[in-house]
Amino acid sequence: TMLPRCAAPVCHVLLLVLCLSAAEDFDWTKNDRSSSFYYGTFPTGFSWGAGSSAYQTEGAWDKDGKGLSIWDVFSHKKGRVLRNDTGDSSCEGYYKVKDDVSLMNELKLNHYRFSISWPRIIPTGIKSDHINEKGIQYYNELIDHLLENKITPIVTLYHWDLPQVLQEKYGGWQNVSIVNHFNDFASLCFEKFGNRVKYWITFNNPWSVAVEGYETGEHAPGLKMRGTGAYRTAHNIIKAHAKVWHTYDTQWRGRQKGLVGISLSGEWGEPVDINNQKDIEAAERYVQFYLGWFATPIFHGDYPQVMKDYIGRKSTQQGLGSSRLPSFSSQEKSYIKGTCDFLGIGHFTTRYITQKNYPASRGGASFFTDRDLAELVDPRWPDPGSEWLYSVPWGFRRLLNFVKAQYGNPMLYVTENGVSEKMQCTELCDDWRIKYYRDYINEMLKAIKDGVNVRGYTAWSLLDKFEWDEGYSERFGLYYVDFRSKNKPRYPKASVQYYKRIISSNGFPNQREVETWKRRATETCSSSNQLLAADPLTSHMEMVTEIVVPTVCTLCILLSAVFLMFLLRRRN
Ligand code: NOJ
Repeated sequence: TMLPRCAAPVCHVLLLVLCLSAAEDFDWTKNDRSSSFYYGTFPTGFSWGAGSSAYQTEGAWDKDGKGLSIWDVFSHKKGRVLRNDTGDSSCEGYYKVKDDVSLMNELKLNHYRFSISWPRIIPTGIKSDHINEKGIQYYNELIDHLLENKITPIVTLYHWDLPQVLQEKYGGWQNVSIVNHFNDFASLCFEKFGNRVKYWITFNNPWSVAVEGYETGEHAPGLKMRGTGAYRTAHNIIKAHAKVWHTYDTQWRGRQKGLVGISLSGEWGEPVDINNQKDIEAAERYVQFYLGWFATPIFHGDYPQVMKDYIGRKSTQQGLGSSRLPSFSSQEKSYIKGTCDFLGIGHFTTRYITQKNYPASRGGASFFTDRDLAELVDPRWPDPGSEWLYSVPWGFRRLLNFVKAQYGNPMLYVTENGVSEKMQCTELCDDWRIKYYRDYINEMLKAIKDGVNVRGYTAWSLLDKFEWDEGYSERFGLYYVDFRSKNKPRYPKASVQYYKRIISSNGFPNQREVETWKRRATETCSSSNQLLAADPLTSHMEMVTEIVVPTVCTLCILLSAVFLMFLLRRRN
């Protein structure tokens, strides 16, 4: 038999302790929102998919004429990404179109969501400079191959990899001039691929672009413009989204008959105390500063009132002449309103929210203090992977119902949902992921029964891949990717088998059947684990860190103890 090869990182234990201390004075058992499992199926035609993004999976960062993106530059700077990982080769997805489509066939996916790398097809980001035919050819090949296999492509135009030239020349999303460049890029995509692509997503998760790219600097381009950077970025992104929607609407829709939407991330905020008005309002603010920041202009023409109030008031208190939240002119408002044929939702987790005042100091302005709230987690929530990702299925149903109520029940596609693991070893038996998918998809089913108009679901992600500032340390994939091996082979985790059954049954037909799924999904994974772990290079590296290092350390400690005892004895 093999030695256990998995070590859960120490930081998990630490995190739990931190959470426990934060939760000390609150009785979490009062807040149990769990409810029972719902057996039933999805409406016919419901679309099942999986997702990826260009920088996270393609690799080939400098091949075939591709230009630099802000993520190429950011990840090459030391200290920006965990262990200085980069997306240089990642999953080598650029070279593995056929292999990856066959993985999708194995799952019997209805759709595949991927993104187009802007600098791969327009190296400087400026269309009049140069168009890279080789890049166009790659996406043609991918799209054609998907369609040959009856898999609908859902294509994101911007999944964070801005051409570096646009960042250097204009300051990226800080500068309104980028709106036209983005529109040119989008038009090129409609022209080249729009005869075959019918689902377009302008932006993926602009909240992260704004907050992590230009406010905290954890993501590329790594700018820390606290209190203003995120709002200005978001403002230009919203304008760019609207412009592209209008371009499609007036120039392409007639011929191509597709849809243009945006993918917003929305985590759910639940009041810590549902009987406390302050907590209720704080939780509402949390969601408005997340999803509402982008969805409200797009559906209703302007920012949420609560954002205008809070940021405006704080800006005045800080002695500023105008709000740090930019405003739209009335023309812009009507231009932006209604620019969404379907809404993409990326959802992973939930927080408990309580009211917390942050005094408006002059230098201390920030997106986070503008909200006047604190986020808490229930220490009993499972968090198998990314630090921020607690599994709270019921939050998903609440978020979906919120979207229905706030934005007039728009057509929805879940564009991202899934969970990571932080194992330093091969682990194909991902029973926590099985549970996560099972329970989140079940809550989505309940939301559909509530009347929410969800048309499709995208598991995030098809493959393990580059997880931004966390490098390769967080694995979201249904398929395990061996990044140590040059050829980046893919191996199915047990969740592949489970998701496959959800898809083939279009839901959860009945208790008797569903209960057999997990056992059947995990039947072969442990033997595959062992085979994989027995790979000579892998086992050599793991031997060193998991066996040799601890053994040598223990021996050293023992020897010094013996030596000390020896010294003491001689003294006596
Ligand atoms: C949202 C991002 O869009 C995606 O790229 C990332 O992998 C997931 N969050 C998980 O962190």
